[in-house]
Amino acid sequence: LNYNAPRERRYILGVLLNGLRRLEYRGYDSSGIAVDGDLPAASAPAPYAGAAPLVYRQEGKIENLVRSVYSEIDEKDVSLDSAFNVHAGIAHTRWATHGVPHPRNSHPQSSGPGDEFLVVHNGIITNYEVLKETLIRHGFTFESDTDTEVIPKLAKFVFDQAHDGEGDVTFSQVVNEVMRQLEGAYALIFKSPHYPNELIACKRGSTLILGVNELSDQNSGKSFHDVKALTTNGKPKELFFSSDLCAIVEHTKNYLAIEDNEIVHIKDGSVSILKFDQDKEKPASVQRALSVLEMEVEQIKKGSYDHFMQKEIHEQPHSLTTTMRGRLKDGGVLLGGLKEHLKTIRRSRRVVFIGCGTSYNAALAARTFLEELSGIPVTMEVASDLLDRQGPIYRDDTAVFVSQSGETADTLLALDYALENGALCVGITNTVGSSLSRKTHCGIHINAGCEIGVASTKAYTSQIVVMAMMALAIGSDQISSQARREAIISGLSSLPRYASEVLKLDSEMKELASSLIDSESLLVFGRGYNYATALEGALKVKEVALMHSEGMLAGEMKHGPLALVDENLPIIVIATRDACFSKQKSVIQQLLSRKGRLIVMCSKGDASVVSPSGSCRLIEVPEVADCLQPVINIIPLQLLAYHLTVLRGFNVDQPRNLAKSVTTQ
Ligand code: G6P
Repeated sequence: LNYNAPRERRYILGVLLNGLRRLEYRGYDSSGIAVDGDLPAASAPAPYAGAAPLVYRQEGKIENLVRSVYSEIDEKDVSLDSAFNVHAGIAHTRWATHGVPHPRNSHPQSSGPGDEFLVVHNGIITNYEVLKETLIRHGFTFESDTDTEVIPKLAKFVFDQAHDGEGDVTFSQVVNEVMRQLEGAYALIFKSPHYPNELIACKRGSTLILGVNELSDQNSGKSFHDVKALTTNGKPKELFFSSDLCAIVEHTKNYLAIEDNEIVHIKDGSVSILKFDQDKEKPASVQRALSVLEMEVEQIKKGSYDHFMQKEIHEQPHSLTTTMRGRLKDGGVLLGGLKEHLKTIRRSRRVVFIGCGTSYNAALAARTFLEELSGIPVTMEVASDLLDRQGPIYRDDTAVFVSQSGETADTLLALDYALENGALCVGITNTVGSSLSRKTHCGIHINAGCEIGVASTKAYTSQIVVMAMMALAIGSDQISSQARREAIISGLSSLPRYASEVLKLDSEMKELASSLIDSESLLVFGRGYNYATALEGALKVKEVALMHSEGMLAGEMKHGPLALVDENLPIIVIATRDACFSKQKSVIQQLLSRKGRLIVMCSKGDASVVSPSGSCRLIEVPEVADCLQPVINIIPLQLLAYHLTVLRGFNVDQPRNLAKSVTTQ
């Protein structure tokens, strides 16, 4: 923050802690913050050229940190009304990779006594063991189990060496040297009392955003020379670094996605951007333009809902509409991001879908209709498994990467791998400016709006719709399937209406959930278009309701799962109308003859067909074009998982041990 009028520490703490709250969905097992203390007396001892930092770290939710910050401040009798002309604070919320959740493993990590260098980090340092050994040989002692701790200690080592040698060293020189030694993926922010009123951020791999407040619209899109001019004319200004736009959207819409190897230096409220080069001693100065964020602050608030997951489930009629907006035109499909590449895709030997978790399931739901409409064989890859196997990817493949966040480490590494192997890489993501959207050759944004609940819901249905539109665009040169394409396009336009209709099952799903709360397990059988629905429905129940649940191919039932069937184990069978309907009817019969406890999802009006003896509990859903049915069928299962979670008393939006975007391998 850089003000022409002094501001209070109270405000600064508020901005940082609120930023953490906005990011809590990304990781929530520990957190920390560092702000400037009161200015030292003129005679203050080294190392402080500036104010000694106040550092707080806590295990658990952000609110634990908030409580501890304010109570420690009370205890130490720190004035919350201290005024600053310029203030540079940092904060972090963690999803543990190296080291258990514990205050000593929370960030900011420190260079040691006196907190001469403090660092917050997103990512993983792969060579930390070697660096740690070297630093220990130079007398450093380590307190945490993190990979991050080597970074501030390395910064202090570089700083001390420079001082022992020629004397002065700038903050960016220190960071440049640290970057030279680090391997792995990282977004870092450095703070040091040696460099009061300065912050440095740099990145390689992980995402980092700079937000600039108090710019009039005419300034967005201009280079940083203009921004600098504004900062020096005394206008109030706030500058933000964040790994996620959600943390800054309530302050500013002007942002810059920092690129790999850039070192962004904030000094007294003005910004300079330098480019790190392994072969050059000094980083070169670069100019970048600001972008304007298209996101409303309401998107990251719960509104009248109790939970984000609930809000996002109920938003689907709207999110499906925004996904399709402007893309269904004149009886065809218009996808600007793919236009130039359609010919290459049509010529490709195969399409490979790559993703993790829910995004993988969405791709699986799209597989059948993409094969049908394009005639191109489609193979499926879980990103981590493709990497483990180093599976074959060819120059004439089209690799389609599906990721809500666009930041999942496994997916991004698989993308690097596919790029190295020369495939055409297409991205499907919800996050504008994400690593996925920057690194792929072309792609489609799903435009579902910010998704905060860790369990993906509206992004799943929008991903399927985007892939349906992609399949229509690829197959649009095939005369023989014209009628089928038209039917799907008309089905797409009616999806939001049917999504609203199926959401009316909310109270019915709550009732069903209450009958299942004590079950230990739940099976979901699907096939064809709805195999993915079975996997995704079971994943939702598993991840949020913390109940064991498996999605299975109904065709495989007799090859093992049938042994589990008894009168206690609840089983959901998806038997809506499509080419597999009669096969699903016989699955129901086989399960009933083994006294299975069945819940059947069927198309409206089919109750007596699927359950003639009335022995199954039913979930009746509206019938849509067969290949789009998964978009509708998943919604009752999302509602079921949501209510099960609430009734079982678990945290809906932040399930145990999980994180929204897994940015580490
Ligand atoms: C994490 C989340 C899942 C998500 C998966 C892939 O595991 O908890 O909900 O499906 O990552 O995320 P992506 O952002 O790549 O879709």
